[in-house]
Amino acid sequence: MKIAVYPGTFDPVTYGHIHIAERACQLYDKVIIALAGENYKNDLFTMEERMIMLKESVKHLENVEVESFVGLTADYAAIKGAKALIRGLRAVSDFEYEMQMAAMNRYLNENLETVFLMAEGKYSFLSSSNIKQVALIGGSVHGLVPPIVEEYLKKKYQELNYK
Ligand code: COA
Repeated sequence: MKIAVYPGTFDPVTYGHIHIAERACQLYDKVIIALAGENYKNDLFTMEERMIMLKESVKHLENVEVESFVGLTADYAAIKGAKALIRGLRAVSDFEYEMQMAAMNRYLNENLETVFLMAEGKYSFLSSSNIKQVALIGGSVHGLVPPIVEEYLKKKYQELNYK
């Protein structure tokens, strides 16, 4: 069975991520979307919230599992028997960071290949940060994130505004 891990922080998941996951599903028997637990970024959503949004957003994909992990992605992939790490590339600006990460992961686990999928043009400008910023200022993110993410963003910013 060919297994791939698609890791990320998914704070929150967008249609850009989902499109990459859908395409990875065509290439591998099983794709594990791995929510990174230790994150050095300033997360808006808790792990639990990100997990709920992710699971709901990929429930149409039969060969996808969603899990969280802590520690090194390279170790997690080895435990799961995955030979491939999936990463999406949106623009040239992603390349340097991704190249370093792929090289480090290969150093840590020589059986692991990073497989890059080019983001679809219509999603190539998306990031979780720009989604959060637009939602925070009251703009529409409709069509860029699944309905559950729209709902969670709305709820989160309402809570924060009332504090
Ligand atoms: N569509 C939309 N957005 C995309 C995207 C796509 N196809 N591809 C990337 N992005 C965005 C993400 O939304 C995110 O945006 P943000 O910075 O505004 O939050 C950004 O690009 C990168 O995020 P992501 O793909 O989630 O990666 P990450 O950099 O947040 O996560 C890990 C990287 C978790 C995979 C990495 O840090 C890791 O492996 N950590 C575990 C510890 C470890 O092994 N460290 C050594 C690694 S060398």
